Amino acid sequence: MSRLVVVSNRVALPGQPQTGGLATGLRAALKERGGLWFGWSGKVTRQDSGTLHEQVDGQITFVTMDLNRADHDAYYTGFANRALWPLLHFRLDLVDYDRSKREGYHRVNALFADKLAPLLKDSDTVWIHDYHLIPLGARLRERGIGCRIGFFLHTPMPSADLLAALPDHQRFFSTMYAYDLIGFHTRRDVERFQAYVRLYGGGKVLGGDLVEAPGGRRVQTGDFPISIDTGFIAQQARAAINKPAVRELRQSLRGRQLAIGVDRLDYSKGLPERFAGFERYLKRYKEQRGSLTLLQIAPVSRGEVAEYQMLRSQLEQIAGHVNGTYAEADWTPIRYVNQNYTHATLTGFFRAASIGLVTPLRDGMNLVAKEYIAAQDPEDPGVLVLSLLAGAASELTQALIVNPHDLDGVADAIATAAAMPRPQRIERWRAMFEHLQKHDIAKWRQNYLKALEAV
Ligand code: G6P
Repeated sequence: MSRLVVVSNRVALPGQPQTGGLATGLRAALKERGGLWFGWSGKVTRQDSGTLHEQVDGQITFVTMDLNRADHDAYYTGFANRALWPLLHFRLDLVDYDRSKREGYHRVNALFADKLAPLLKDSDTVWIHDYHLIPLGARLRERGIGCRIGFFLHTPMPSADLLAALPDHQRFFSTMYAYDLIGFHTRRDVERFQAYVRLYGGGKVLGGDLVEAPGGRRVQTGDFPISIDTGFIAQQARAAINKPAVRELRQSLRGRQLAIGVDRLDYSKGLPERFAGFERYLKRYKEQRGSLTLLQIAPVSRGEVAEYQMLRSQLEQIAGHVNGTYAEADWTPIRYVNQNYTHATLTGFFRAASIGLVTPLRDGMNLVAKEYIAAQDPEDPGVLVLSLLAGAASELTQALIVNPHDLDGVADAIATAAAMPRPQRIERWRAMFEHLQKHDIAKWRQNYLKALEAV
């Protein structure tokens, strides 16, 4: 078997809390097969970018690279998170078109290639992840790397017309033709990418999801929905009941039901809409008022970016407003928490919650939805309320599917979930849990790598 080399901006170094679905998913995938994980060290230094650090943990060797302030600000905070992230989440209104940030992004991708290329062997299988590193495959090819290189996009792939709004989009997206396999979460993402290739990318779509670049190079595309370590999370959630934080949470509810949301503080997650939907529920379902508490855990993310700072104050304002309007002396409707918890504690919180609220405005997959299901008590499971705009909705079809913009629809789903009889909850939950047992993180990795190695 060839050595697996995983490359991503964010690396889940041993002992560090993981941030977001990518780090969670890749850590679980690498744990099984081992290999090299290359990426940003998470450090911003005063020296030049490019200092490497090596660390070994079990079967995984981590090689990470420091960035200096200027590179970090242009590449990560700038182009990746202020242009590509909003664009890929259909938010053209938030895209920052600054050219110098775009150039900084390309400079850092070239530096990744300079540092990674000498570590690679012809027999390696290289798997590059996410929007931070779209041109990296092409940069490696320019440095003579001939081994198999795959790419996986963890965000949605938006419609072709949106992609075409990026200045220089053709030069940018045609770097993707350097890969052997490009993976997306859902069928719809694959089809939107193929539409871009046809309409703007100068290429052709052949049968079997092959696309042909203008020069004739062929690239395989496909959908590979990322998943979770289902068995492990189920077991972790069972054990977590005895954790003090979980016991204290249960006690503090004093018999009330709990609805839970856990999301990075990001505008793609639809948090203001979720609070507003919960407020609509409180307003319209008077008979249920006081019997359900919403716990929203939202660790701060990308705090240097202005849009994220604005979102934070907006949420504080809405939560304050809803609580001011509906709280009683012994009950607060929304508990809004920016603190982060360990993964094990979160699974215990999920198990304690009768409702999981996952209502992003756009999401590549959303692993919280899957983790919520895996963490439930099989005898008395909770109900998942899930946005139709999350990739997870194409698999978790027994959830209560909502349009996150439709506040009345969200309010109705919360009320339905809170009152759902146990046999119906069990039936819905079981179908989703069985699906996740079959389609877990190991399957995701195996399916993707099988497809890459077959190219
Ligand atoms: C999303 C992205 C990941 C990213 C994660 C956390 O899941 O797809 O690439 O790592 O968010 O964001 P951060 O900016 O903290 O890495």
